Amino acid sequence: MMTGVAIVGAGHWGPHLVRNFSTLHGSQALWVVETDETRRKMIGDRFPMLSTTDDIEEALGDDRVDAVVIATPTSTHALLAERSLKAGKHVLVEKPLTTDIESAIRLCNLAESVDRTLMVGHVFLFNAAVNRAAEYIEAGDLGAIRYISMVRTNLGPVRYDVNAAWDLASHDISIANYWLGSPPLAVSALGGSWVNQAVEDSVFLTLRYPAEVMVHIEASWMNPSKRRLISVVGSDQMLTVDDMDLMEPVRIYDKGIDEDPSAKVSDTFAGFRAQIREGQIVIPNITAGEPLRAECEEFLARIRGAEAGLSDGWAGAEVVAALVAADKSMANDGRLIDVESVR
Ligand SMILES: NC(=O)c1ccc[n+]([C@@H]2O[C@H](COP(=O)([O-])OP(=O)(O)OC[C@H]3O[C@@H](n4cnc5c(N)ncnc54)[C@H](O)[C@@H]3O)[C@@H](O)[C@H]2O)c1
Repeated sequence: MMTGVAIVGAGHWGPHLVRNFSTLHGSQALWVVETDETRRKMIGDRFPMLSTTDDIEEALGDDRVDAVVIATPTSTHALLAERSLKAGKHVLVEKPLTTDIESAIRLCNLAESVDRTLMVGHVFLFNAAVNRAAEYIEAGDLGAIRYISMVRTNLGPVRYDVNAAWDLASHDISIANYWLGSPPLAVSALGGSWVNQAVEDSVFLTLRYPAEVMVHIEASWMNPSKRRLISVVGSDQMLTVDDMDLMEPVRIYDKGIDEDPSAKVSDTFAGFRAQIREGQIVIPNITAGEPLRAECEEFLARIRGAEAGLSDGWAGAEVVAALVAADKSMANDGRLIDVESVR
C-alpha cells in the first residue's frame, strides 16, 4: 500500500520530512504546502516531482493524499491538524502538539472519533541512545531513579511564537515521561527574556514525578555551547546520554555514594559516613540510524494499523500540559504548579 503524503511547512525542519517521505518504502510525498513564496520555490526546485501550494485546502482536496505532516510554527499546529483530521487524513504533527491543553485534548478526541492516526513528532523517542537508556532503566540496572538532569542549549535558533521550554524542553519532557512511565505531577520554572520580551530565551525547569523523582531541565537558545546532555542518577548506578557524542552516546557508571556502616559517626547522631563507589564505566555499542526516519516509519506503520506507539497524540498532550504548568509557574515567580491530567 502506498501512502500519499502532504507536508505542510518547508522551513528548517519540513525539508527533512519531505526527504524521508519521498524516499521511504511505502510512502509518496505528493504536496508541499508553504505560505512563504521563496521557500515554496526552493522546495519545489529541490523536489520537482512534488506539487506546491500556499493553501492547505488544495492538498486536502486531493484524494490521493492519505496523510498530512505538519511542520509549521507551533502556534499554527492546532488549526492545521484539525482541518486535516476533519478532511479524513492521518496526521503527524511536529512537537509540541499545540500551545494549549484544550486543543491538544480536542485533537486526540477528534482523531479517535474519525478513526485516524494522530502522532506527534517527539523525535527523541525514536533515538537509539534514548531507547537503549530506556532498556537499562526498565531492567532496573540503575536501581531506583533519584533524579534526572537534562541540558539542551545552543546559540539559536531563536523562536518568536514559543519560549525555550516549548521549543527545547519539550524534547526532554517527552524523554522523561517515557523513561519514568508517567507525566510529571508538578512543575516549577524560572525563565529570562532578552531577545524578545514576549518569550523566554532561557528556562530552568524542575519537575516532580511520582516516586519522588526530580527532573531538572536547562533549556536555552542563548548559550555559547551546543549541549544535549542527560544524566540519570539511580540508587545503584548512573547513566549519561550525550546526544552530541555520535560514537558513544551512552555511558553506564557503576558509581554511587553508599553508606559505610563500619564508619558510624556517633552513637547519638543517626548518620553514617558516605562511601564513594568508583566502579567500571560501560559504553554500549549503539548503531545510530536517523531518528526522524524511524519516526516517519512508525507513522506509516500506524496508518496501516500498528498499535499506538510512544508518540501518540495523548503523549503529546501530556507534554503540552507540563509546558502549560511551566508557563504558569514562570508567571508566578517559580511557584510549584500542579500539572493537569489529560487522560
Ligand atoms: N523534531 C525536531 O527535532 C524539530 C526540529 C526543528 C523544528 N521542529 C518543529 O517543527 C516545526 C517547524 O519548525 P521550523 O524550525 O521548521 O520552523 P520554520 O519557521 O523554519 O518553518 C516553518 C515554516 O512554516 C511555514 N508556514 C507557516 N504557516 C503556514 C501555513 N499555515 N501553511 C503552510 N506553511 C506555513 C512558514 O512560512 C515557514 O517556512 C515547529 O513546531 C518546531 O518545533 C522539530
